[in-house]
Amino acid sequence: MAVQRDTSGQIESPVNRQFAQDLKEGFEQELKHIPSKYFYDDQGSKLFQAIMGMPEYYLTDAEFEILETQSMAIHKQLAWQEPFRIVELGAGDGKKTIQMLRAFEQAGLDFIFSPLDISEEAIRLLEASVREQLPSIKMESHVGDYFDYLGDSGTHKLPTLILFLGSNIGNYNESSATDLLKLIASNMNEKDALLVGFDLKKNPNTIKLAYDDPHGITRAFNLNLLERANRELGADFALDQFDFYCHYSPESGEVKSYLVSLKKQTVDFKHLNWQVDFEANELIWTEMSKKYSVEQIDKLGAGAGLQTESQFLDCKHFFSDCLFRKQPTH
Ligand code: AVI
Repeated sequence: MAVQRDTSGQIESPVNRQFAQDLKEGFEQELKHIPSKYFYDDQGSKLFQAIMGMPEYYLTDAEFEILETQSMAIHKQLAWQEPFRIVELGAGDGKKTIQMLRAFEQAGLDFIFSPLDISEEAIRLLEASVREQLPSIKMESHVGDYFDYLGDSGTHKLPTLILFLGSNIGNYNESSATDLLKLIASNMNEKDALLVGFDLKKNPNTIKLAYDDPHGITRAFNLNLLERANRELGADFALDQFDFYCHYSPESGEVKSYLVSLKKQTVDFKHLNWQVDFEANELIWTEMSKKYSVEQIDKLGAGAGLQTESQFLDCKHFFSDCLFRKQPTH
């Protein structure tokens, strides 16, 4: 963040330059867009925690169940007798991962847990929670972006299980998801494995309810993008002049989320000396959350040089944690 000064040189407030630049680019598109990574400031992270706690947002419980009941089956599939490492990309609060760590610890397995998250606060809380619940686990945490981490992680001696859970992959379109999986694969040795959480296609009404929740939490999560622009860029978005809309297309498997301008209006970004016009009913696209079939998951992996070893599903078949290894090179 850079510091903004007023004409007398007084510090006004910090300006997040990258956010400003991405917003300018996004608002120049024919369909205005705010990249979904901006959901997760402190306020947005709290709202996301609340989303994960809603019964309608079945994804969390489904993946929790998989890790609680099938972690030893995952380890059996890995077939590692020796000590190993678990690297978690975008670890967040680690609530689900702790189920796996607990199962491995109870089985007397020798491993190091290496969580990575962009938020220092998230890593601090995760460390405290693991230390409290599983005090004997060896941990080596990292704060940072997983693209930087993957680029720098280099070679390592212990076989590694990389975790990319929570359907985070669903927020990437197919070509970006393929690129990300390729990047992860390029950091894997032959023995290493990758466990990716995918939300599965299911009754469209179940999916719709998870994103268009009756409590209004997902609505607040989306409106927080505008509040964040007000806080960080001196914008004057009137929150009651924007609505939230989302829909799920069972054909494409995509949930798309939007903010809707309720009238023709101009928003002023005080710190940036910039104004943006919105038509009545104009959309701002905020997020895509893709749902896969079991076959599409195998295909996505294959396109990134990964081969499915096994897909671990919850009892309702709502979610899949897919275990990939690198395709052998001949
Ligand atoms: C983080 N990500 C996987 C969530 C999802 O389901 O796409 C973010 C979210 N958006 C609305 N509800 C949850």
